[in-house]
Amino acid sequence: MQTSWIPFIPESASTVSGKVDALYFYLSGVTVFFTLLISGVLIFFVIKYRRRTAFEIPRPIAGSHKLETLWSVIPFIIAMSMFAWGAQVYFENSRPPKNANEVYVVGKQWMWKIQHSTGQREINELHVPVGRKIKLIMTSEDTIHDFFIPAFRIKADVLPGKYTTEWFEATKPGTYHLFCAEYCGVNHSGMIGSVIVMQPADFDNWLSGNASQQSPAVAGQQLFQSLGCVSCHGANGEGGRGPGLVGLFGSKVFLTNNQTLTADEAYIRESIENPSAKIVSGFSPIMPTFQGQVTPEQLIQIMSYIKSLQATGTPATAAPASKAEATPAAATVTPQLNRK
Ligand code: CUA
Repeated sequence: MQTSWIPFIPESASTVSGKVDALYFYLSGVTVFFTLLISGVLIFFVIKYRRRTAFEIPRPIAGSHKLETLWSVIPFIIAMSMFAWGAQVYFENSRPPKNANEVYVVGKQWMWKIQHSTGQREINELHVPVGRKIKLIMTSEDTIHDFFIPAFRIKADVLPGKYTTEWFEATKPGTYHLFCAEYCGVNHSGMIGSVIVMQPADFDNWLSGNASQQSPAVAGQQLFQSLGCVSCHGANGEGGRGPGLVGLFGSKVFLTNNQTLTADEAYIRESIENPSAKIVSGFSPIMPTFQGQVTPEQLIQIMSYIKSLQATGTPATAAPASKAEATPAAATVTPQLNRK
């Protein structure tokens, strides 16, 4: 594990880490400057204006509009610069780019379970290629955890029953610390791991070396059959008792209460666990709840299957890194093609 040339500062190894550091040094610089200025002036005045004779009465001070304005306007400008710069870095850091590779993360006491969109699973390790955008979609099986990679300057809570995301693009190959940064029970301090950043070619090798595992979308499709979802939500609109799911993810949904929303991870999760919360216009609230019947990991698989149902009518191919893998539909229809 590397550290930076500045003591106590972790290595800077992602596209945003330099920007976070610059902001941090600006804030620290302003703080140090004013601390020194104010304490210096304070000490100077204490000495210069000390009482020299007993019963000495100071000269009365009338006040100065010029000074008052100056020491209001300058701090205002400095504070606004912090706000604007901070907001800019925050938005860049918190909005995952659209073309990112997705990786699923499930936290549980006390380990990180990670699955790539091509099916590879890892525990307490995350292998990623250098120079590619990676989006983590994270949830928890039990309590609140927090996925923290100091070298990338990213950190986000991982909550039960909810999906949070963070993203990064690693800039240097190497091995970096991964921490849980939310106290989550006795072995919280042991909930650690490594992020291994590899050259894209090495990463593709690593990926194909572990390619025998089923992708989440394929597992989700099987769950979709075995849980009976397919009898109401036929992928091509058959069934008819529930809304069709092809092209659903990311699209606009019209509800019976005249609301409109975008079908995202939170909406799909809610529709599985609490189906009557939001009813799609034209349908009746007949779907039973699946709360407690699907684990957080299975929920991710079903979600991943629904995401893979693109408007073309066939499930989309998996991420580009998985040349070895067939499309989820093809993999189920013709499993023999997938065997090695
Ligand atoms: Cu998980 Cu602390």
